Amino acid sequence: MTNSLNTDDIDTVLSTARSVRRKLDFERPVEQQVIEDCISIATQAPVGMGGENWRFLVVRDDDKKLQVARVYQEVMLELTAARGISIKSTHQALMDRMHEMPALIFVCVIGQPEPSHSSNVAFYGSILPAAWSLMLALRARGIGTTWTSLLSAREEEIAGILDIPEGVLQTVMLPIAYTKDARLKPANRLTAVEVTFVDSWGSR
Ligand SMILES: Cc1cc2nc3c(=O)[nH]c(=O)nc-3n(C[C@H](O)[C@H](O)[C@H](O)COP(=O)(O)O)c2cc1C
Repeated sequence: MTNSLNTDDIDTVLSTARSVRRKLDFERPVEQQVIEDCISIATQAPVGMGGENWRFLVVRDDDKKLQVARVYQEVMLELTAARGISIKSTHQALMDRMHEMPALIFVCVIGQPEPSHSSNVAFYGSILPAAWSLMLALRARGIGTTWTSLLSAREEEIAGILDIPEGVLQTVMLPIAYTKDARLKPANRLTAVEVTFVDSWGSR
């Protein structure tokens, strides 16, 4: 393994892994081998003392995707109605076509967080870095996705559709498809100076 990496490419991937809900090629299958290559990279993420409790459920079955998409749609409609907001067109696009995605990847973890803050930090800190690495590995291969967490509101129902056993927690779900003419750019975010302190809080 060389120590001299192409930081331009790596930085591009890291800073352009946008949510891709449109400009996706619904006709082009995403090969299982490509997904597994990405999962192999994801499982290099940091992991706490609990060990490798990550499990990835790749849903390709049309009927199951449709059932999941229906639940997603219901949650989105309930959430936006409860908050009195309208659904943005980009969210609508994902909602309308989720079942057409070649695959939906559920990032799951065996176990439950304890109620304490530190155990939550350790528990989610041992699964979400892998989910993000997966998203980046997909991005590097021209596969678009979105970090979605809405379905966690209906975890039991999803568990029923996908035969996820008790004791396995669902975290994020990544709907995936190859991108088509998507121009992924860095987002407009606070600068490093705005969000960084040195030596003591508030000191720049
Ligand atoms: C904790 C979390 C939960 C999210 N859940 C959803 C979701 O359920 N559905 C969705 O379309 N996007 C979801 N997103 C994606 C955000 O909407 C998105 O990251 C944000 O709009 C910024 O856009 P970008 O990812 O292109 O930078 C979620 C993001 C985070 C961090």
